Amino acid sequence: MDNTNFGVGIIGTGSYVPDKILTNKDLEKIVDTSDEWITSRTGIKERRILDKDKSTSYMAEKAAKKAIESSGLNREDIDMIIVTTVTPDMAFPSTACIVQEKLGLKNAAAFDLEAACTGFIYGLSVGYSFIKSGLYENILIISADSLSKITDWEDRNTCVLFGDGAGAAVLSKVKDGRGLLSIDIGADGGGGELLTQPAGGSLKPASIDTVKNKLHYIKMEGNSVFKFAVKIMVDSSRKVMRKVGMNIDDINYLIPHQANMRIIESASKRLKIDSDKVCLNLDKYGNMSSSSIPVALDEAVRDGKIKENDNVLLVGFGGGLTWGATLIKW
Ligand code: ACO
Repeated sequence: MDNTNFGVGIIGTGSYVPDKILTNKDLEKIVDTSDEWITSRTGIKERRILDKDKSTSYMAEKAAKKAIESSGLNREDIDMIIVTTVTPDMAFPSTACIVQEKLGLKNAAAFDLEAACTGFIYGLSVGYSFIKSGLYENILIISADSLSKITDWEDRNTCVLFGDGAGAAVLSKVKDGRGLLSIDIGADGGGGELLTQPAGGSLKPASIDTVKNKLHYIKMEGNSVFKFAVKIMVDSSRKVMRKVGMNIDDINYLIPHQANMRIIESASKRLKIDSDKVCLNLDKYGNMSSSSIPVALDEAVRDGKIKENDNVLLVGFGGGLTWGATLIKW
């Protein structure tokens, strides 16, 4: 394959979720909520919670190991690691550098990328460009988040929504006409206030006041995010299909960001895609931020659902605000 006559595709996937399960019934004991409310408003039944003494890199390492194994590559073949997360182990060093050391990926450049829940799509886009340009060959994208660590467990508006997990994929050269056929990523910083973790950065460094005022937890305007999410998922999906002259009937599987069942249902209805083509795991895991899409992708691949030549549409949205979609010929 010369430098232009090839595709860039996913040659291995992996995922990891913690063992500890927190059910809606468990949450009833923590905040004023009910299994009925959570199920009917979100579709979530339970979520996974990472142990207190473990961090995002722990899950990232586990998912990455599986992705490398399934790719058939050796560790020394990986020449770049991109970790997408809003819950890095610490501000620096990057979680990608921590994972590089844990996995002994000595030949890999490593950096973190922050695009909130759209992280995996952004990560794929960056990886695609590095491989297409000929600069790098085998890129490990890991999306890992432990939102339980920045969740206010006294706020029923948010604490019922999130869960922890990690998903990973190895990107590499594939046959021309296969792999990522089209990509759309975008952002609207004007909507940044809708989803924030206000303190802990240079604007409001950690202080007794920031802790007292709970500014290290996720703040969200759920209703506004909801409306934005439905519209942008539909627009971005249509854009990537249009770019390659496909329509919804050409799509074998849709893997959306898993934030709320009603968002996914509204977007699916507008896109006119059959519900049995939509890959879901929201009921088991809640919203795992950027990990939601790659975990669902890995499960669909390992279950044998996604087969060679299938057209798989990934679409997500998140804080920033950010959004993105990619259409992959598997
Ligand atoms: N249990 C019981 N009642 C609750 C709960 C709860 N857990 N949470 C909220 N309520 C109450 C509210 O207090 C409100 O009561 P009120 O009418 O007396 O004031 C009522 O339920 C309705 O609240 P709404 O916020 O209007 O409920 P809505 O139907 O919009 O659902 C939800 C809220 C689930 C948050 C929804 O708006 C949503 O999913 N939004 C999208 C969120 C999202 O996608 N976030 C992730 C983005 S990705 C990222 O970057 C992390």
